Amino acid sequence: MDLLIRNATLPDGRSGVDIAMADGRIQAVGSALAVSAAQEIDAGGNLVTPPLVDAHFHMDATLSYGLPRVNSSGTLLEGIALWGELKPVLTQEALVARAMQYCDWAVARGLLAIRSHVDICDDRLLAVEALLHVKRQVAPYLDLQLVAFPQDGLLRSPSAFANLKRAIAMGVDVVGGIPHFERTMADGAESVRLLCEFAAEKGLRVDMHCDESDDPMSRHIETLAFHAQRLGLQGRVTGSHLTSMHSMDNYYVSKLLPLIREAGVAAIANPLINITLQGRHDSYPKRRGMTRVPEMLAAGIDVAFGHDCVMDPWYSLGSGDMLEVAHMGLHVAQMTGQEAMHACFLAVTETPARILGLSGYGLTPGCNADLVVLDARSTVEAIRLRAGRRYVIRRGKVISQSPAIQATLALPGRPATVDFRLHPG
Ligand code: FE2
Repeated sequence: MDLLIRNATLPDGRSGVDIAMADGRIQAVGSALAVSAAQEIDAGGNLVTPPLVDAHFHMDATLSYGLPRVNSSGTLLEGIALWGELKPVLTQEALVARAMQYCDWAVARGLLAIRSHVDICDDRLLAVEALLHVKRQVAPYLDLQLVAFPQDGLLRSPSAFANLKRAIAMGVDVVGGIPHFERTMADGAESVRLLCEFAAEKGLRVDMHCDESDDPMSRHIETLAFHAQRLGLQGRVTGSHLTSMHSMDNYYVSKLLPLIREAGVAAIANPLINITLQGRHDSYPKRRGMTRVPEMLAAGIDVAFGHDCVMDPWYSLGSGDMLEVAHMGLHVAQMTGQEAMHACFLAVTETPARILGLSGYGLTPGCNADLVVLDARSTVEAIRLRAGRRYVIRRGKVISQSPAIQATLALPGRPATVDFRLHPG
């Protein structure tokens, strides 16, 4: 074997597990495996998980904070206006450099698969070219999936649909959209129809920014579910944000959720961004603005948490840590029950892996040998501590390593070092 991890705890709670890897794949998972390997890691009872996955990101805008100026109001609409000011002065070199820096951060955080939207409304398609280049560069250590995103509106921006088709022809993977940003509700619905038909024709997945609004009448998710079902796109369509659902009438939602489930449409909430950008027109009480995560999970709908933004026109914070995203999602959705907290961990690991359609993701023999050893004993503890990523492994090789965080104390009668895990043993 190339690499053997001893004494791991798995996300499903099994403990004392060994994982043997060779030729880039997991070969065996079990207790006290009688194998030897070139390298052995003692997990010491800590959690070993398949990599973190971000199902919703904007890599063309990331790390551009302050360019050409900061978002002074901190609102979504000023963010979109600011992105419009930045786009004409973007250079491919700077875009690639920022995206590559972010990918380094991601790897160090155990985040090895990202679905990033890329704005296709700039006729030069400079960001598309740049991110396709980045995708090839990072492929050995990170899966980057790109979504053709018409930020200025598919119908509202004259060349958007032609540009979207060009981007797909260049190698972008997924069809995006933004129906709530079109000029009218009718145009929004028409954009959903056009995009779903285009995706069905090309055999592609769909992931739309959908109903990112506090307006309870923004119901494009209903149209998205309708066309997903009509065109046989079950399991390949995702609605991102869906924040209007937070404000919708409960009776309407009780009809809507089974329709989404039936259409096999997945949902992505972006807790850090939803909690900061939504509810901005409210006085008090202020709405949280995140979509109905526990209700959708209970209805059998796949729900992932995305990071959406890191240091860009919309959000001035973030560092590529999906455990921070899960932490915020857990709080905003009040998912504090034991199973609910575990579901928040799944929302940044196996659920987004399913939404992206990643192959070889998991912890069974034959899966890719892609793993993260966390400084925590359970999925809930991992979220609580935003636990350190001790080892990040890709195709059976350690690609990032972090020491355990340890404070040396000088307290009489107390241990010399501090351990934030509960009952570390
Ligand atoms: Fe987004």
